[in-house]
Amino acid sequence: MIQRFVSLSIIVLLLGGMLVAQSTSSKPGVQEQPFGTQDGRPVHLYTLTNSHGVEIKAMNYGGIIVSIKVPDRKGQLADIVLGHDKLEGYIPNPPYFGAIVGRYANRIANGEFTLDGKTYHLPKNDGPNTLHGGTDKTFNKVVWDAEPLKSKTGVAFSYLSHDGDDGFPGNLHMKVTYTLTDTNELVIDYEATTDKATPINVSQHSYFNLKGQGDGDILDHEIMINADRFTPVDKNLIPTGELRPVKGTPFDFTKSTRIGSRIDDNNEQLVLGHGYDHNFVINRKGSGLVLAARVYEPTTGRVLEVSTTQPGVQFYTGNFLDGTITGKDDKVYKRRYGLCLETQHFPDSPNHPSFPNTILKPGEKFHQTTVFKFSTK
Ligand code: GLA
Repeated sequence: MIQRFVSLSIIVLLLGGMLVAQSTSSKPGVQEQPFGTQDGRPVHLYTLTNSHGVEIKAMNYGGIIVSIKVPDRKGQLADIVLGHDKLEGYIPNPPYFGAIVGRYANRIANGEFTLDGKTYHLPKNDGPNTLHGGTDKTFNKVVWDAEPLKSKTGVAFSYLSHDGDDGFPGNLHMKVTYTLTDTNELVIDYEATTDKATPINVSQHSYFNLKGQGDGDILDHEIMINADRFTPVDKNLIPTGELRPVKGTPFDFTKSTRIGSRIDDNNEQLVLGHGYDHNFVINRKGSGLVLAARVYEPTTGRVLEVSTTQPGVQFYTGNFLDGTITGKDDKVYKRRYGLCLETQHFPDSPNHPSFPNTILKPGEKFHQTTVFKFSTK
């Protein structure tokens, strides 16, 4: 009897010790740890933890968000973004898991644009197009300077993109700040200045799966997209220029709808995109933060809300994932195992004068904000 009591007490003590160890490792604030080297420069991993135990890890290589741990409706934490356990997994990173994309997120047709009478040529890395800024020193694969924030739970990444890098004009000073609030929001601020006029479009390329990363596809997630129109594309996924009403089409997500319910419909746009891979025109009045999308996963109750100051959001359903990448915890990422909500300006805007302006001029300040809010229902 006494023996049993003693061994039970030991188990209780051990468990208690583990709990204490766990709670100290996830104390609120920012922690920095080495995460390898790239291009001869140290890479660090920054862990942001809030008072509810929500934890976000991001590194200064590519500004990549490596993990986001949030509770389900029972309080169970899971990592809800696709990615890799180690830096090496991200080199290369063809799906752009978790990365900051730019100088020009999304596509530029034929890898060229004309600005102030001069035509600029960019590397083509997506058939005839330039995708996510090109091939060389794109934001997703350079080492950024990093500084943890002093007064908030956050980290600021800065990068100087030089005049001529990947064919773009001007020295562009770029800063991206990730802040985690106690209301379970990840606030992303993008700021930039330039010394020559240049197109700029920056976004965050995290792949979400609210069931938990690697745990099946996202077809049963429900999504609301606050957009009455989208930008249809041609066979190269370049916008035709039209702003097409979503009403009566599989692109109508103005009411929350299961993602898989129409994704394989015989619809010209869905066939071209191999599913959803389209920019939606966010309904907005004025230029402030508005809700762009809300995603709900019924089995776990997790909810993701995306708000932004940007005019568009690319809804991409991971159509190009094909089971050839093994990610965190040895999970195999198959087709449609993650969804991206890339808040952005419209694709190929430099070649579409009717689209909202993407040209940043010397003396101007670029500032966009996107908020990912995590909750349960
Ligand atoms: C973006 C594009 C997609 C695809 C992914 C990366 O979301 O719109 O077509 O290229 O990036 O795989």
